[in-house]
Amino acid sequence: MLAAQAAGRQVTTIEGLAAADGTLHPMQAAFRSCHGLQCGFCTPGMVMSAVDLARHHGCTSETQVRDALEGNLCRCTGYHNIVKAVMQGAAAMSA
Ligand code: FES
Repeated sequence: MLAAQAAGRQVTTIEGLAAADGTLHPMQAAFRSCHGLQCGFCTPGMVMSAVDLARHHGCTSETQVRDALEGNLCRCTGYHNIVKAVMQGAAAMSA
């Protein structure tokens, strides 16, 4: 989205996702434990999209996760582990 479209709204970036003491958000922890990143270029977008998906729609299937993340491209093609991480992170968020 264009920055102007966010005027007057609260924006959370990847830097604001972890707790103040540095504890990773469950989705970040899942990406780490599932090896859901390689070079890391796509990771902030993947994690933030995954958190939004989990919060607002839940993650019921790998197909749903793949559909939700289709706008985020991983040039390292690490999609298998990314989807695995999103499923694990969403489960941790709902626990
Ligand atoms: Fe390299 Fe996704 S991990 S672009």
